[in-house]
Amino acid sequence: MRILSGIQPSGAMHIGNYFGAVKPIISSQDSGELFAFIASYHAMTSVKDKDILRQNIFDTAVNFLSLGLNPDKAIFYRQHDVPQVLELYWILSILTPMAMLERGHSYKDKVAKGIKSSHGLFSYPVLMAADILLFDANIVPVGKDQTQHIEMCRDIATTFNDRFGDILTIPKIKIEQNTQTVIGTDGAKMSKSYNNTINMFDTEKKLKKQIMNIKTDSKGIHEPKDYKTCSIYKLCELFMSKNELIQLQQRYINKTEGYGHFKQTLYEIVQKYFAAYKNKREHYLKNPDEVEHMLQSGAAKAKAKATKKLETIRQAVGLN
Ligand code: ADP
Ligand code: TRP
Repeated sequence: MRILSGIQPSGAMHIGNYFGAVKPIISSQDSGELFAFIASYHAMTSVKDKDILRQNIFDTAVNFLSLGLNPDKAIFYRQHDVPQVLELYWILSILTPMAMLERGHSYKDKVAKGIKSSHGLFSYPVLMAADILLFDANIVPVGKDQTQHIEMCRDIATTFNDRFGDILTIPKIKIEQNTQTVIGTDGAKMSKSYNNTINMFDTEKKLKKQIMNIKTDSKGIHEPKDYKTCSIYKLCELFMSKNELIQLQQRYINKTEGYGHFKQTLYEIVQKYFAAYKNKREHYLKNPDEVEHMLQSGAAKAKAKATKKLETIRQAVGLN
């Protein structure tokens, strides 16, 4: 079973990325052969500054390694270290109907949010398909918002196979059911572009500020509060055990505490959860050569597989 997923190095990692994508990707290193990569070409559709891009790529690598990605178990690489993917991207582009890309929700959302429209942004799903199909991935663990991209990948692969023979593996999506969509501090989907994120590796001060900004209703300390509709409670669900949640529910009905207290509880539990990873993170931040070495050795393994697959594809389409 081959599992593959990537994450764009497009800004500070937040708990939505963590629970929706990073954690499921990392845990799949124990259930199959994992290819995990940093989608640097994809990030270029939104990050235009070269120093920021370079820094984001490094930070994403450090975060993955600190959060438990084990390069002895998984093949971990930067997308741009395996440029073979761009040749497959072109071959797949020929088979991708314009109308399919025009239906892209993610493309439309990004343009609506102010990202400048470009051919790269428009054809983003084709590059994603190339990432997946170049490595014969069976399973792609991603957040729910990537569903349409994986469907497009399956369609493109089917078209290819119909025309050139049974060469590409049709992948299946895997979505973590409990954390499909992590909400942000305003109650909407947590996202960098909505400025509503909780960034677990920010300074304590910034983290606290983000959590204290969570929107609630205006019920006072002595009024009963509804945990079912409260964003603080929903975020606590990501971190707490069943018993801890039952105790928290009790605090909502006790009429002795306000939302500030619940935010403090959330802050403490987020801190505690990620504290375990902070030492490792400090280590990698101080040792960029070690990180570079791991990425290069991952790239060498990925490149060997990619070159072989691309040769088969080239022959199938007549580029030999
Ligand atoms: P953002 O929306 O902050 O720009 P990205 O689009 O870079 O995040 O998403 C990176 C990965 O994290 C994707 O697989 C995506 O599905 C997942 N993800 C992002 N936000 C959330 C969220 N709020 N809940 C669950 N998964 C998320
Ligand atoms: N589009 C994905 C995201 O926004 C990143 C990505 C690029 C990806 N290529 C991929 C995910 C291939 C899974 C498989 O996070």
